[in-house]
Amino acid sequence: MSGQKIVVLGTGGTIAGTSAQAGDNIGYTAAQVGVDELLAAVPGLQVLAGGALVAEQVAQIDSKDMDYAVWRALALRCAHHLKDPQVRGLVITHGTDTLEETAWFLQEVLDTPKPVVLTCAMRPASALTPDGPQNMLDAVAVVLAPGAAGVMVVAAGEVHGARHVQKIHPYRVHAFNSGDAGPLGWVEEGRVRLVQNWPLAQVKYVHDAIENIANPGEWPWVEVVMSHAAASGKAVDALVREGVQGLVVACTGNGTIHHSLEAALSRAQNTGVRVVRSTRCTEGQVLPKPGDLLPDSQGLSPVKARVTLMLDLLRAD
Ligand code: SIN
Repeated sequence: MSGQKIVVLGTGGTIAGTSAQAGDNIGYTAAQVGVDELLAAVPGLQVLAGGALVAEQVAQIDSKDMDYAVWRALALRCAHHLKDPQVRGLVITHGTDTLEETAWFLQEVLDTPKPVVLTCAMRPASALTPDGPQNMLDAVAVVLAPGAAGVMVVAAGEVHGARHVQKIHPYRVHAFNSGDAGPLGWVEEGRVRLVQNWPLAQVKYVHDAIENIANPGEWPWVEVVMSHAAASGKAVDALVREGVQGLVVACTGNGTIHHSLEAALSRAQNTGVRVVRSTRCTEGQVLPKPGDLLPDSQGLSPVKARVTLMLDLLRAD
C-alpha cells in the first residue's frame, strides 16, 4: 500500500469506554479514550497498515445519543477523505447501539468505490478482555482486502453489509448478525474470506445527498411507531398535530397493523405525512400485496427505513 493511507475516524462508543474496575463490563462510561490512543494500544496495527494510519476525532459520544449534527460532520469528513486519491479506505470507530443506523445512513449518502468499515466493541477498552483491539485489526484487514468496497460493519470476526446488519444482543461479544442474508464473510488471522459480493454504493441518493446534508437547515422529522396488542392511534394523531413529516410503522408479521393505529396512519397519510411499513420481525421482510394502502420499506428494518424516509424527505425539500 505504498503511498496510500487509511483514515480512522473516531466517534466514541464502548470501544473507547473505560470503567473504574477492569472486570466491570456494564458499569463503564462510553467515549472516554481518544482515537489516537486507541490506535496506539493495538499491537501490530500500524505494521498491518504499512505505517499509514491517520486518526481523526469526529465526535466522542455514546452512540445512543447519535444526532444529526454528528451524522452531518461524519458524512462530510468521510466524503472529504474518500476524495483523496491517497486514501485507500476508512475505518470508523462507533458505539454498537446505533451502529446499524449510521452504517445505513453512510451507505445511502456516500458515492465511492472505496471501503468504509465501521467497527466497535461490546467490552470497554479497560476490560480484562476488550474486544475492540481485534475488531480494529480486522477492520483494517477488510479495508486492505483486494476489491473491498461499500459500507460495512466488522465485529467479532464477521463482516456485515450495511443493509442487513443489526445489533441483536445487548451483552454478548458476538452481538451482530445480518438475519436471512448472513454475513458477507469473515476475517480469520488477518485474511478476509468473502462469501458474498462487496456492497456497492447506493444509486438512489448519492447524486446530491452530500450537498443536502451540508445545508445547515433542519432535517425532516420522522418517527417510528409500533403496532402491538391494544395499540391506539393517539400517539400518531398527536405527532401529526405537532408537525411530524414521516412515520415508519414497525408492523406485526407481514406488515399488518392494529385497526385503531391503522386508521390514524391512514388519516396521517391523507394529510400529506409519508407513512412506510416495516416489520417487527427481526428476519425476513414485508411481502407486498395488491391493494396495500401503505407502502412497505423494501426489506429495511424500522430504524433503517426511518433513515431512508428522512433522506427522501430531505431530498424533496
Ligand atoms: C454506544 O453505543 O456508544 C455504547 C454501547 C456500545 O458501544 O456497545
